[in-house]
Amino acid sequence: MTALLIDRIGELVTNEPGGRDPLAIRRDAAVVAVDGAIAWIGPAGGAPACDVRVDAANRAVIPGFVDSHTHLVFAGDRSGEFAARMAGERYTGGGIRRTVATTNAAPDTELSANLAYLHRELIRQGTTTVEIKSGYGLGVDEEARLLRIARTVTPETTFLGAHLVPDSYLDRPDAYVELVCGPMLDACAPHARWVDAFCERGAFDADQCRAVLTAGAAQGLLPRLHANQLGAGPGVRLGVELGAAAVDHCTYLSDVDIDALAGGATVATLLPGVEFATRSPYPPARRLLDAGATVALATDCNPGSSFTSSIPFCIALAVREMHLTPAEALWSATAGGAAALRRTDVGTVTTGASADLVVLDAPSHVHLAYRPGVPLVHTVVSNGEIAYQQGIQ
Ligand code: NIG
Ligand code: FE
Repeated sequence: MTALLIDRIGELVTNEPGGRDPLAIRRDAAVVAVDGAIAWIGPAGGAPACDVRVDAANRAVIPGFVDSHTHLVFAGDRSGEFAARMAGERYTGGGIRRTVATTNAAPDTELSANLAYLHRELIRQGTTTVEIKSGYGLGVDEEARLLRIARTVTPETTFLGAHLVPDSYLDRPDAYVELVCGPMLDACAPHARWVDAFCERGAFDADQCRAVLTAGAAQGLLPRLHANQLGAGPGVRLGVELGAAAVDHCTYLSDVDIDALAGGATVATLLPGVEFATRSPYPPARRLLDAGATVALATDCNPGSSFTSSIPFCIALAVREMHLTPAEALWSATAGGAAALRRTDVGTVTTGASADLVVLDAPSHVHLAYRPGVPLVHTVVSNGEIAYQQGIQ
């Protein structure tokens, strides 16, 4: 049994549900983790002795970030595409094919090394739960390989065979959808928890996405959807109708889409790194929140539309560009991400929850948006163990 104590916490963000303040902040607190779970929360200086003691020295402590949308298994670089966009080119999603080619040409060892590097990058920035999608294989064995590799770092893996129609099926997209719903799903389902599709003009239409999500659900996978990223469309409403845990992007929303999200159990996952890196309008986050929808914030870390692994950067964008309060943005990147993954054991600091905590090098969570671009992560505790300490590990 290993017990870890974080003592002398100036501001503890717990996200404990039920109160008037969604962050449910406690002051001058301490937290004890035993065997990976939070065992005790109480006043600073009042905790029992533990094997390991972290002195927060009046800093703020928050739940580890829950990044509910990434594409971390890939090879190759698309910085040229980014530079061209900044010079005026439009993002269409077509560059996905370039990453499919470089990824499929890379050996497992290269993909695993790239993944380990990016995963470490996430942890250093305070992310303790991450979802990872396939989608850069677009073949039966290729997609299964990406999921097998993703599974080595997280149980939150998503089958995204319906990311784009690959070159070899361009003249018969429905045959590709049949492949995705049949042999590809059979090969991938054992390695995935979720099924996803890119519902967008130029990718897959509503009927094709419905077929993929329904086939996935029949094999026990839970649905989620890329929707309304490049333009208005049926994706959000389809996701709500199919009971998706989340619809992601939500850049272009109608009033009907917002009503559907406000009235349903589907989380709206916003990915402002995409709008930043594709120079697109930001999603109507304020309208979503004011209508009562649950909002999550995630990075969408991928080599094309958003190559950032930094939730703090996304929080800063959400506050500055989408008019979330710092508290709303932090909640969305922790408890909101947990809701998008249908998890109750992460995204909060409550007894019994997974002991995933971040000590910020700041007195308040507001600094996450107030000091953009500054590395504010002091210590990361993941599953009750120190996973990162500034200047040490
Ligand atoms: O979430 N929207 C589709 N897929 C990714 C982009 C992938 C890429 O451009 O490589 C996304 O933005
Ligand atoms: Fe994505």
